[in-house]
Amino acid sequence: MACLHLGSLFLLLGLVGFASFPAEAAIKKYQFDIQVKNVSRLCHAKPIVTVNGRFPGPTIYVHEGDRVLVNVTNHAQYNMSIHWHGLKQFRNGWADGPAYITQCPIKSGNSYTYDFNVTGQRGTLWWHAHILWLRATVYGAIVIMPEEGTPYPFPQPYMEANLLLGEWWNTDVEEVVKKGSKLGLPPAMSDAHTINGKPGPLFPCSEKHTFAMEVEWGKTYLLRIINSALNDELFFAIAGHTMTVVEIDAVYTKPFTTQTLLIAPGQTTNVLVKANKAPGRYFMAARPFNDVPIPVDNKTATAIFEYKGVPKTIIPILPQLPTPNDTEFVMSYNDKLRSLNSPKFPAKVPLKVDRHLFYTIGLGRNPCATCVNGTQLTASLNNITFMMPQVGLLQAHYFKVKGVFRTDFPDRPLTTFNYTGAPLTANLGTSSGTRLSKVAFNSTVELILQDTNLLTVESHPFHLHGYNFFVVGRGIGNFNPAKDPAKFNLVDPPERNTVGVPTGGWTAIRFRADNPGVWFMHCHLELHTSWGLKMAFVVEDGKGKDDSVLPPPKDLPLC
Ligand code: C2O
Repeated sequence: MACLHLGSLFLLLGLVGFASFPAEAAIKKYQFDIQVKNVSRLCHAKPIVTVNGRFPGPTIYVHEGDRVLVNVTNHAQYNMSIHWHGLKQFRNGWADGPAYITQCPIKSGNSYTYDFNVTGQRGTLWWHAHILWLRATVYGAIVIMPEEGTPYPFPQPYMEANLLLGEWWNTDVEEVVKKGSKLGLPPAMSDAHTINGKPGPLFPCSEKHTFAMEVEWGKTYLLRIINSALNDELFFAIAGHTMTVVEIDAVYTKPFTTQTLLIAPGQTTNVLVKANKAPGRYFMAARPFNDVPIPVDNKTATAIFEYKGVPKTIIPILPQLPTPNDTEFVMSYNDKLRSLNSPKFPAKVPLKVDRHLFYTIGLGRNPCATCVNGTQLTASLNNITFMMPQVGLLQAHYFKVKGVFRTDFPDRPLTTFNYTGAPLTANLGTSSGTRLSKVAFNSTVELILQDTNLLTVESHPFHLHGYNFFVVGRGIGNFNPAKDPAKFNLVDPPERNTVGVPTGGWTAIRFRADNPGVWFMHCHLELHTSWGLKMAFVVEDGKGKDDSVLPPPKDLPLC
């Protein structure tokens, strides 16, 4: 009898203990309605695709460890998919979002719930449409706070603000793109850059379209800066103030102070700013970095950093940004980026490499009978232009559907040449195909991304889905396998999900392939992605029971 009583008492205590156990992950639910709304900027009003009628869209605000459910209902005329840029989606590519890579798009009138856990990541990321050029207006911030009770590894800011840098076209972006590809030329460049969807007062009709943040003297602010532009790497600065970089792509860094940031499309940067200068109004400004003679939208977007109590009639001063082609600034800025690499946040750089990959980035011209010049611009990796499939690659992989993709993407270019030597106007007989690279589970991969002078050198921000990687090396000219690896930083290299390959140079990244699935890798300049500068890895399942791709959700869209 007594025994039984004791038993039930323990059971009861156990239940109580379980029920009150802290650190239970919260479930955060969001409803995203994709809808078209009339929005006006720069004296023009036009219908744009939005989430919940907002531009930029709503912020996803979670804590590390939370589960997130985002129900996306598509009321627009375009098929849609949303990517949670930088979230690792462990075993769960079904929630990653790139159309035709991990899912078929959500058709007009349909819904899909992205269901994912935010595990082992904290910081700033963002979400965006991942089909056509729709991310021009369909994007928003993702803020992942550290687990409850865990402070930042830097002084607690007084307040935080998100700054989303973007690009604006006065006409329908999809029409702009269609027109470009019909002509075989790059689509018309954007009409303005924006900060939180607003171009600022340097543009006509923009008085109302200026983002301003009010600050209190003596306080420190955390700015979460996101480059959501389609095609422009941007410099960003605040007049009169320095910024301390503390995080990039949701990874803490060794803090350093700078006047200007460089941020490529896809990247995020968190900075601390102290409002301790003469109370006034100061412009925050963003303008492209471009070190090749290719035209870009070089206009400056501005927002205002204003001290409380200062009259709004005072005209703000502009910061000094580097000249648009200041390669030297960019190199030295990138040299300062280092992982925090603390005991709590170690940099787990793979020291031994199982698989060495070398991919050349090439632009080219292909014959095009219907184009004005008879040619069409194209882009390739290892001389292969990626062809988008008609069905999701992850489904094809999971259900073992034959004939959708091949797994023979070459580990190195078939023809070697002086990659960054004299410009080669012709392409090297670029082939096209849906060719993936198969990677063994948990193997360590080193990938050298080598820019080439096929048509022209250019800098390319590369993004890998499903992973963070370590940027172990970078250089100008051709990568030298005999000499360059000795200079790699294997101690505290920056860890990120998007990295710039310098103009006429190379970047070396390393990662451990511990996330099974099909993962897209592409240049985050939408222009180049649409020309075919993309490929995908298929990371095989491991042997353990927790090492394989999860089963697909029931509402996964069909093609
Ligand atoms: Cu932010 Cu595949 O991209």
